[in-house]
Amino acid sequence: MPSGNGAVHASPSIRRFARELGVDLHRVHPSGPNGRVTRDDVQHFVKRSLHDGGPTRAAGGAGLDVTPWPKIDFAQYGEIERKPLTRIQKISGPNLHRNWLQIPHITNYDEADVSSLEAFRNEVNAEKSAADRPKLTLLAFLIKASIAALRRFSEFNASIDGDSLVYKRYYNIGFAADTPDGLMVPVIKNADSKGLFEVAGAAAELAAKARAGKLALGDMQGGTFTISSIGGIGGTAFTQIVNAPEVAILGATRAAMKPSWNGEEFEPRLMLPISVSYDHRVVDGAGAARFLRYVAELLGDFRRVLL
Ligand code: COA
Repeated sequence: MPSGNGAVHASPSIRRFARELGVDLHRVHPSGPNGRVTRDDVQHFVKRSLHDGGPTRAAGGAGLDVTPWPKIDFAQYGEIERKPLTRIQKISGPNLHRNWLQIPHITNYDEADVSSLEAFRNEVNAEKSAADRPKLTLLAFLIKASIAALRRFSEFNASIDGDSLVYKRYYNIGFAADTPDGLMVPVIKNADSKGLFEVAGAAAELAAKARAGKLALGDMQGGTFTISSIGGIGGTAFTQIVNAPEVAILGATRAAMKPSWNGEEFEPRLMLPISVSYDHRVVDGAGAARFLRYVAELLGDFRRVLL
């Protein structure tokens, strides 16, 4: 895909005009003498791009030479119902689109043996005193294990800023919350300095606020890493989209009993599928495999989080 505006016949003022509008002159049909691109040509290109519903550039990225969105009269094939996108869909859609287009995504998958962790979680939640404290959820364990992994693999808690990588020394963990109006990502601030119960309580409070449509903007800002836990619903694996300007997002789907070879025999173990999607400009596949393995080891023996 052409990256500059060289080898195109256009005056410096037209080049500047095209640059300001983010137009790749290679894609503009020239109508001027000797194949020169005119101001009208650039304007026509922008109008046509807007009409086709496609951006002239991916928000500062390379030109996207995509065909226009199909325009179909669905009613000609059967009964339809038209509903406007929800407010959340209207806000999150462009962000997801930007992240999908601008971040070179890769997803790695692994499995964590959560047999002892789930036994411990259920035991704690069944205690008499459990009624007076937040319920320990798998999400809370995922958050604490992620923070331990983020401390070890600091590039996962970083952000690209121009030519630099900004490493954050604080751990604000966002989590995907499924709400009737769509996906929201509240952020638990300084989750590293909170205990498991406090994290579980903060997550429950933020998820309830999200479902009631009462999250403040500040509740969703400042995240350094995100977790999407959909095991309560189901699934064996999925590819979550990185939440820019973060560089990685952890996913978890439904844990299931599986036969595991212990060296002598197969024994049933509760295995949790986990995945990490990451910005390949910052993290490579080997780094992601190490990160995910470490998260799996922590979930397999949660005492290691303390080390
Ligand atoms: N495997 C098996 N069962 C699981 C599980 C997993 N990975 N995760 C949860 N469960 C089960 C548990 O039995 C739990 O009940 P229990 O604690 O009494 O045992 C039950 O599902 C309910 O869990 P859930 O409501 O998911 O609670 P949570 O604290 O683990 O998760 C949220 C909280 C906010 C993350 C979750 O409710 C949610 O909204 N998830 C959807 C996220 C989403 O939409 N992601 C997609 C973004 S693209």
